[in-house]
Amino acid sequence: MAHHSGDSSKPDRNLALELVRATEAAALAASKWMGRGNPNAGDQAAVEAMRLILSEVDMDGVVVIGEGEKDAAPMLYNGERLGNGLGIQVDIAVDPIDGTRLLSVGGAGSISVVGLAERGKMFKPCTFYMDKIVVGPECVGVIDIEAPPAANIRAVARAKGMPISAVTVCILDRPRHQKLIEKVRATGARVKLISDGDISGALQTAIPDSGVDILMGIGGTPEGVITAAAMRCLGGEIQGKLWPRDDAEREQAQSQCNLDEILTTEKLCGGDNVFFAATGITTGELLAGVHYSGNIARTFSLVMRSKSGTVRYIESRHRLDKLRTFSQVTYVD
Ligand code: FBP
Repeated sequence: MAHHSGDSSKPDRNLALELVRATEAAALAASKWMGRGNPNAGDQAAVEAMRLILSEVDMDGVVVIGEGEKDAAPMLYNGERLGNGLGIQVDIAVDPIDGTRLLSVGGAGSISVVGLAERGKMFKPCTFYMDKIVVGPECVGVIDIEAPPAANIRAVARAKGMPISAVTVCILDRPRHQKLIEKVRATGARVKLISDGDISGALQTAIPDSGVDILMGIGGTPEGVITAAAMRCLGGEIQGKLWPRDDAEREQAQSQCNLDEILTTEKLCGGDNVFFAATGITTGELLAGVHYSGNIARTFSLVMRSKSGTVRYIESRHRLDKLRTFSQVTYVD
C-alpha cells in the first residue's frame, strides 16, 4: 500500500508525534523573546514557526481555534487550511503561546499547544470567555458547573479520598473571580491563584502528583476547547458555560450558540481520534521550558492521543545551526 493511501477516515499513525514538532518549533522561536517585554513579537515568532511545520503534516486540516479572524490575524486564522491535504480530515486548535504575557516578562509556565480532532468535532467558540471547571480522572462524573463551588469541592475531596483542607483549587487571578475565590476559601480548600495560563492549570488536574485538584473560573473559550482535547486524552473532565462579556456579545452569541448549554468534554472536543501536544517555553509546573547550552536547545513536551490514552514526555535536543524555524522566521520589531 502506498504511504499516502488517501484513506481520509482513519489515521494510521500517531499524528501527535508530528504535532509535537510544531509545538517544539513554536516554543523554540518564542523562547528567543523571553523577558524582552514584547509579547507581540514572541507571538508572531511562535505562530510563524508553528504554521511552517503544521503545513507539512500529512493531514487535511482546518483551523477551528486559531489566532482569530483572517483580517486581524495574517496566519493561523480561523478557517485556514493546514497540512499537505493528504490523510485524515481534521479540525485543528492552536495556541502558539498560552501565557504570552508570562513569556514577555520571563515568568513561569508559558507553553505552546496544539490539539487535533476529526473534522467537525471541535466546538467553535462564540464568546471570548467561558466559565470552566476541570478535574482529573478520579473525579469524572462527580462535578457540576451549575452547583456551588463548595459542592464541587466536597465531591472532589470524596472522590479522591482526601480532606477538603488538602484540596487545591487553581483559579486565574482576576477581579471577576473575587466572589468565587471567597467561596472557595470559605470551604477551607487551598487556593492557587495563577496570573495566566489556564490550559496549564487545567492539565495539572489530570496529571498525577501535580498538586492541583480542580481548576475553576472564567478563562478563554479557545483555551477551554484545547483543554477538552487534552482531557479526552488524559481521561479527565471539563464542563463549561459560555460567558459573554457584555450585552452586545451576549446578543451576538445568542444567534449562534445556546448560552445556557453545559458544554461537556465531548461537546467541546468529540470524535474517536483526538491528538494533543504541548511544549514548555518558560519553565513551569507542567513542563520545563526551552533551555540553551552552547549550540543546543533542549525542549520538553507532552504528547498524547485519546485512542490509546498513552501520555508521552519527550525531551528533545535541537541543533540551533540546523533549525530552519529558529533562524529563518522573520520577526516584527
Ligand atoms: P494568551 O497568552 O493566549 O493571551 O492567554 C493567556 C490566558 O491567561 C489564558 O490562559 C486564559 O484562558 C486567558 O488568558 C484569560 O483571559 P484574561 O487574561 O482576559 O482574563
